[in-house]
Amino acid sequence: MLKYSFMIALYIACGAVVLLGFTAFFGAPYVPSKNPEIERAFKKLYPLGKNDLLIDLGCGNGKVLKMASKFGAKSIGIELNPLLFLVSKLRTRGDKNISVKFGDMFRTKLPAETTVLYVFGVERDGERILSHLESEAKRLGHDLTLISYATPAKNHRPDREFEAYYLYKIKTQ
Ligand SMILES: C[S@@+](CC[C@H](N)C(=O)[O-])C[C@H]1O[C@@H](n2cnc3c(N)ncnc32)[C@H](O)[C@@H]1O
Repeated sequence: MLKYSFMIALYIACGAVVLLGFTAFFGAPYVPSKNPEIERAFKKLYPLGKNDLLIDLGCGNGKVLKMASKFGAKSIGIELNPLLFLVSKLRTRGDKNISVKFGDMFRTKLPAETTVLYVFGVERDGERILSHLESEAKRLGHDLTLISYATPAKNHRPDREFEAYYLYKIKTQ
């Protein structure tokens, strides 16, 4: 019986490790932003308000979504990792300002009301994210703002910087 319980626990632990490592193959691994840092950066670079719809590209455990809601903004999290998608869903349940979607940020069409995006990814994805958002801004017909944490795009100069955060204004052109 003890051996059986041990095997189950081992399978669960291996499953969690595989799921947490899963997105490292596709994009950023899971490392959460720190609450005081996100709040400070948004206050400085882009004060959120009730007219904003923030999209967190790779929302992890949903903490950026919860921070946005605290400032009255609506938010949508997109998450590719099934385990983190569930964690995010559970942590934000009951909050009418927040929804969480399972999917790939590069294949997701942004809602027309999107005003600002947040990403904490890996440097190699910085340029790809900017290109994707440029085509989305064109499709939507309005400018977008990206707050990027530690994810600079090598061919784009940020409009503003604060600590490890970069603000990019994405024009429809
Ligand atoms: C560094 S964590 C940041 C989590 C959260 N945004 C935060 O700041 O606390 C990056 C997240 O992006 C997710 N991710 C990586 N590639 C993705 C993709 N192509 N589409 C959606 N989510 C992705 C990972 O699973 C991970 O949860």
